[in-house]
Amino acid sequence: MNVAVIGAQWGDEGKGKIVDYLATDAQIIVRFSGGANAGHTIVRGDEQFALHLVPSGVLYPDKRVILGTGMVIDPEALFAELGMLAERGIDWEGRVFISDRAHIVLPRYRELDKSMEAGRRRPIGTTGRGIGVAYAMKSSRDGMRLADLYDDERMENLEPGDVEFIKAWRDRLSPLSVDLTSFLAAHRNTYSLFEGAQGALLDLDSGTYPFVSSGMSGAGGAASQGGIGPRRLDKVLGVFKAYSTRVGNGPFPTEFDPDSQSGLCQFIRDTGREYGVTTGRPRRCGYLDLVALRYACLANSIDSLVLTHLDVYDTLETFEACVAYKIRGKLVEHFPASVRDLSDAEPVLRTFRGWKRSLKEVREYDELPREARDYVNFIEEYTETAIDIVSVGYDRRDTIVRKSPWTRY
Ligand code: IMP
Repeated sequence: MNVAVIGAQWGDEGKGKIVDYLATDAQIIVRFSGGANAGHTIVRGDEQFALHLVPSGVLYPDKRVILGTGMVIDPEALFAELGMLAERGIDWEGRVFISDRAHIVLPRYRELDKSMEAGRRRPIGTTGRGIGVAYAMKSSRDGMRLADLYDDERMENLEPGDVEFIKAWRDRLSPLSVDLTSFLAAHRNTYSLFEGAQGALLDLDSGTYPFVSSGMSGAGGAASQGGIGPRRLDKVLGVFKAYSTRVGNGPFPTEFDPDSQSGLCQFIRDTGREYGVTTGRPRRCGYLDLVALRYACLANSIDSLVLTHLDVYDTLETFEACVAYKIRGKLVEHFPASVRDLSDAEPVLRTFRGWKRSLKEVREYDELPREARDYVNFIEEYTETAIDIVSVGYDRRDTIVRKSPWTRY
């Protein structure tokens, strides 16, 4: 069975924890897009791991993990991460593979990324990891893939510094290279997870363009860039937080005013540890945007939702969620493509009662306070999508499963 797990907001929804949790039952974990711009945090008891490129399943000794075709891979960042894992006792050799169709991020792409950002009148707020440049080079057919590392003709297109860089890394990269489609076909009868990076609203096509990343972070990427065809994808899970966050620039209709007297922004940021894993930037915070979430469900055929960070609301008397927008006086109930419309959108908010108790020890859905279940029910009805998993803390144990993610819909 093949299950895709994607972020249903602007990234940082807690996918790392959820993929780590689901990986218990999977044999293969494929990450299908993005690069070292992503940051996945996994907490195991007292230990915390921050991964940027390697799929989260690597922490299990018996799982095989693959960096998929849609990824753009910076060899320096990759081997620094693998080195860190080895130092911390994770034996990855023989278990980490890279699609031979995945692209390489060359050092000058990072510089170019930064200088393009500096030249933008309205910067995107990129992570500076060369991601957009790598995807642009891929689209213009000037990129280098793992399969091309020993191809002298392809090397002729490169600058001398690039060739030196490729030659310095290729003997370490090529032993990890696999033909992903053949690999997955040979392991057809296993449970495989397709792990997305970033989120549906940062997807190049369906996100808040141009304030997006450059990869396919939606469910479509799981098929085309994960090495299988769309009909082989059995299920799509969408992970979202009880509230919204965003890093970098771009429209964010429910954003809290960071200077407001209520202090809600700082409260969420501190309670939810909303600081970037890759850049350390404080994340922008706001209430849950249900209009955006419903759009993400539709655009990605999300079968089932995973709600995370519900415990962040534990101490609140009341909180709100956005159920529509007012755009220049007009009520709008769909998620507009225009950044101008989204920037002008004022959220129409619905108020919910808080539960005022800790959810940390809750393990069964029925043990959740009524107010928390009311919130869950409302989201399900609004999005017409079931919430099958609720996460109430960072640890793998802090997870309530209502329906196994390995059940077909
Ligand atoms: P880039 O991916 O570095 O080009 O950045 C483009 C936009 O995507 C910026 O707003 C980044 O902050 C955002 N972004 C990229 N990766 C992530 C992620 O893993 N989580 C959240 N935001 C991200």
